[in-house]
Amino acid sequence: MHREYATFRPNICKYFMDNVLPSSKNILDPMAGTAPLIPYVECHHLTAFFYDILPIYYYINRAKTYKVFKKVYGKQLISIEKELIKKLKSIDNKKLSISEKWIPADILEDLLKVWKSFDNYEKQTNVFVKAIIIMSIRPLSCATASRKNATWYKQGGMTSEKDIDEIIHENINKYKLYYETYYLKLTKGGNIYFNTCNSQKIQDLSNIDTIITSPPYANRYDYVIMYAPELYFLSKIHRNINIENLRKEILASNKVVGFQGFNNIELINKKSPKTMEFLLKVKGKGKKGENDYYFRCFTKYYVNLFQILDKLINVLEKRGNLYIVIQNNIHRGELNNMDDLMTDYFQQKGLESSIVYQELHKHQGTRNISADYPLVLKKHKESIIRAII
Ligand SMILES: C[S@@+](CC[C@H](N)C(=O)[O-])C[C@H]1O[C@@H](n2cnc3c(N)ncnc32)[C@H](O)[C@@H]1O
Repeated sequence: MHREYATFRPNICKYFMDNVLPSSKNILDPMAGTAPLIPYVECHHLTAFFYDILPIYYYINRAKTYKVFKKVYGKQLISIEKELIKKLKSIDNKKLSISEKWIPADILEDLLKVWKSFDNYEKQTNVFVKAIIIMSIRPLSCATASRKNATWYKQGGMTSEKDIDEIIHENINKYKLYYETYYLKLTKGGNIYFNTCNSQKIQDLSNIDTIITSPPYANRYDYVIMYAPELYFLSKIHRNINIENLRKEILASNKVVGFQGFNNIELINKKSPKTMEFLLKVKGKGKKGENDYYFRCFTKYYVNLFQILDKLINVLEKRGNLYIVIQNNIHRGELNNMDDLMTDYFQQKGLESSIVYQELHKHQGTRNISADYPLVLKKHKESIIRAII
């Protein structure tokens, strides 16, 4: 429902709903993105923790819960819509332009004022309104993106040409439809907890019997840049949010300037010798004049991924199940065979693991998705690996 840069494909979602969730009690998705499993957890009264490093998901996902539906669905929705439109009228006809600061000062000021004006509202209404405000930032954006920033340009740095009434109405309607699809017949929901946190730093979680997660694939989207206007806005509300830091912390193969691949190769070798072999094959296949560029991209990705997986293995209960969704891809003739590399990583830890689901996914039109990922991915195999801890 939000721009789904990050979302399980329907078949993957169905796999979890049919085969995993019916026998799970306490579920964690530490890289949950848009958290497509929320309705299932609500409808079957389960307990789940949906975390992500990007604070935007915290706001958008909380409004998807049964609790919020119960409070705002019906007449409330109409009055919230009227009130928001009235309060945001001041930004009508102003357009966001993409600048270093992402949102021009005058629009930012108006948005912040409206955001704060809902602080004293009843909790669930406040959660709902804030999700709508966040979702309304992007459609205001205007088409001045530089072609250099390929992600932004391709992924929608365009004005929607809609006025504020339409933008608010459409966003409220998205939630309305979502609620109607899942919650109308429910009498009780589940227990869902949301948090913004780096998976490497998860703490204070116990009794997790199932972890389901889909880490960012190597050499795919630059999530931070794609959500930059929303993150910029949130950084004005929470001082600890910082776009540059997020770009360094997020699991990705970008921001490798200054990252020394070779300093990390022994560490990788300890975690998974096969991954080291792959990295050494990639070495020398870099951008012109920067021979180890891709080597460093992939090394950084795997160093972070293994750190996260180490952490998740500690969080999970004994005999718990960890499901990770991964994707193989080919880089300049070298297969980044994640099935194999992940299996090797689990084996080194003495854990039982297997591929439980696999399908070939055709990817279309992926040339230069982002300035940082100049790779071309045509088609790749997507798998779910289950490790039993
Ligand atoms: C492929 S997406 C998840 C998709 C999700 N399953 C869905 O259907 O929407 C990967 C997510 O991992 C998050 N992420 C990346 N690095 C992270 C980290 N170190 N800690 C927590 N979340 C992280 C990204 O923000 C992104 O939302």
